[in-house]
Amino acid sequence: MRQAATTMSESPASFDEIVARAVELRHDLHAHPELAFEEVRTTQEVRAELTRLGIEWAPCTATGTVGRLAPDASGPGIAFRADLDALPVEEQTELPYQSTVKGWMHACGHDGHTASLLAAAALLKQQERRLSGPVTLIFQPGEEGGHGARRMIEAGALEGVSRIYGFHNWPAIPFGRAVAVEGTVMAANGQFLAIVHGRGGHASQPEGCIDPILALSSFVTQVQQVVSRRVAPQRAAVVTVGRFHAGSANNIIPDRAECEGTIRASTTAQLEEVSQLCAAVFHGTCDAAGARPEWHWTRDYPATVNHPEAAKRAREAVVRVMGPEAPWTEGVPIMAAEDFSYFAERVPGCYLLLGTGRPGKPLESCHSPRFDFDDALIPVVMRLWHDLAGL
Ligand code: NI
Repeated sequence: MRQAATTMSESPASFDEIVARAVELRHDLHAHPELAFEEVRTTQEVRAELTRLGIEWAPCTATGTVGRLAPDASGPGIAFRADLDALPVEEQTELPYQSTVKGWMHACGHDGHTASLLAAAALLKQQERRLSGPVTLIFQPGEEGGHGARRMIEAGALEGVSRIYGFHNWPAIPFGRAVAVEGTVMAANGQFLAIVHGRGGHASQPEGCIDPILALSSFVTQVQQVVSRRVAPQRAAVVTVGRFHAGSANNIIPDRAECEGTIRASTTAQLEEVSQLCAAVFHGTCDAAGARPEWHWTRDYPATVNHPEAAKRAREAVVRVMGPEAPWTEGVPIMAAEDFSYFAERVPGCYLLLGTGRPGKPLESCHSPRFDFDDALIPVVMRLWHDLAGL
């Protein structure tokens, strides 16, 4: 039973009730994953829950929603952000609430991010009159490569916001530990498509051909020198070729070969430098083979860079809520990328990583078909956001 609105929200029963409700919602979202910009049902659930809680909300982009608490409070505005979308992954968990959609899955825990923000919103709503400034709740579509954050900013999500926080669950970090570092927390990323145009012919007569497979293989090997020899060891960067395609039969030298790869770096400027070095290696390799190079580069997300003041506040909240041992810095920055970066470029922000690793439990990283969000984070997020809202 929901208790009367006048009940002290600090009472354990009420807090537990909010957690239980959020867990139920999370499992429902998990069973019904939707991909980027198709989060129709998910968004309906979010809006229905905000309405149930008596929280004012408005659509912001087709499947995004912005909720507002204490809109008339005079202090500086603060925002909390959750992402909504799932991934094209075939679930292999056999959970009672596993995905009901073949080939789609909440393999990154955005179901948990959304449920956690709804739970925090429920808690904050009970103490709305104590909030010193407006609190904006951002439910964002299209985080998985869709630049959904940028669309929401263009649609006005950051109006009246002077600080923003968000989090990602992170299985490689122990449960009870949290990253709230100043500076880069997640990498900038981009992708390349490299096509070698050679000259095909009979495999027995290589002298009459220009072999694009050999040239492209050489590029895949040579490009690894960019990170090892051209980037300072203190600065993080990754170059990975993830797809390589060429040829149709054992006795044919094909006309072309192509590969795709990802580049990640700890600053957005360094990402551009590394991509230019990779392109130079590609052109040089093709030149040496007498092949014609075709290089396509697409920049994806900027680096997620935490503002010093926002990160300091987040770290203080982590210590108060999770204990003095909680702050964690090992393995940071994470070389995955995140479009929270767009929010943090506009207003001072801090993106936290909250650990979910458990001793003795095998690591299932985000995007694994066996991944599941750890519901034990929900009360942690409620307490963190409650603290950061100044309550
Ligand atoms: Ni994610």
